Amino acid sequence: MSFASKVVIVTGASDGIGAATAIKFTKEGADVTLVGRTEDKLAKVAAECAKHGKNPLVIKADVSKDEEAKTIVARTIQTFGKLDVLVNNAGIFFLDDIMKPNFMETFDSTMNTNMRAVALITHLAAPHLVETKGNVVNVSSIGATMVKYPNFVSYKTSKAALNHFTRSLALELAPHGVRANLVSPGPVYTDIFNKAGLADFVSDLKTETALKRVGEPDEIADVILFLASEKARSVTGSDYLSDNGSLLM
Ligand SMILES: NC(=O)c1ccc[n+]([C@@H]2O[C@H](COP(=O)([O-])OP(=O)(O)OC[C@H]3O[C@@H](n4cnc5c(N)ncnc54)[C@H](OP(=O)(O)O)[C@@H]3O)[C@@H](O)[C@H]2O)c1
Repeated sequence: MSFASKVVIVTGASDGIGAATAIKFTKEGADVTLVGRTEDKLAKVAAECAKHGKNPLVIKADVSKDEEAKTIVARTIQTFGKLDVLVNNAGIFFLDDIMKPNFMETFDSTMNTNMRAVALITHLAAPHLVETKGNVVNVSSIGATMVKYPNFVSYKTSKAALNHFTRSLALELAPHGVRANLVSPGPVYTDIFNKAGLADFVSDLKTETALKRVGEPDEIADVILFLASEKARSVTGSDYLSDNGSLLM
């Protein structure tokens, strides 16, 4: 899957699935924009990309802050001259509880990062994607459709909204030759669980998948690259599961 001469933005590229995705796109010849808030982690991913002969554009930005998010597409166009693929991957995950006094804080920050930022960045990217007949891959979650575990209402709501947003986007941009798809991972070994104070939760989920395993970031990156590639030219509005059979259970 060659992405030579393609320009790709990956949000949440400083860690986990986004880092694996950015490195893979670079390996396949793309010019990549890495977006995240943590400079030292971004620098490590940039160094990995550079090993494949391409220096990425590194943008330190909090996607939930409009003024910072607005720089992402503009700086990418300034640097690389066009945009072929937008991967909206940045995401946060909190334990919440509808009864807790701070519920609206976790709800707002989750929706702002996992959904609103995607709408803003996609809105700004759309005219450039129309020019290149490019595509969008949004990273959702099986939580968008599965309500098995309580206390993740904000996360699950944000991802359900993302799914509907992406299908609507696919329909709206189809006449322009632009595709939009979702990847919905099941549990994947990344730091997202540690950040939520749930370090052991992900290993426990192993027994709850049909294949009795938890995914790796690289496996999700492979699906993202497939959807972004010419091989998926007839795929739009789809939700690709990579969940080790979690939703079968
Ligand atoms: N791991 C799983 O089991 C799993 C399952 C289903 C879906 N997902 C989805 O996969 C995506 C990636 O998650 P992951 O597991 O790779 O998590 P991760 O390792 O915690 O990485 C999350 C990435 O998002 C970035 N990010 C978070 N908030 C941001 C903000 N406001 N502005 C800019 N960047 C931000 C983080 O960078 P900084 O902290 O440097 O900003 C980091 O690069 C998320 O959308 C998540 O919901 C993950």
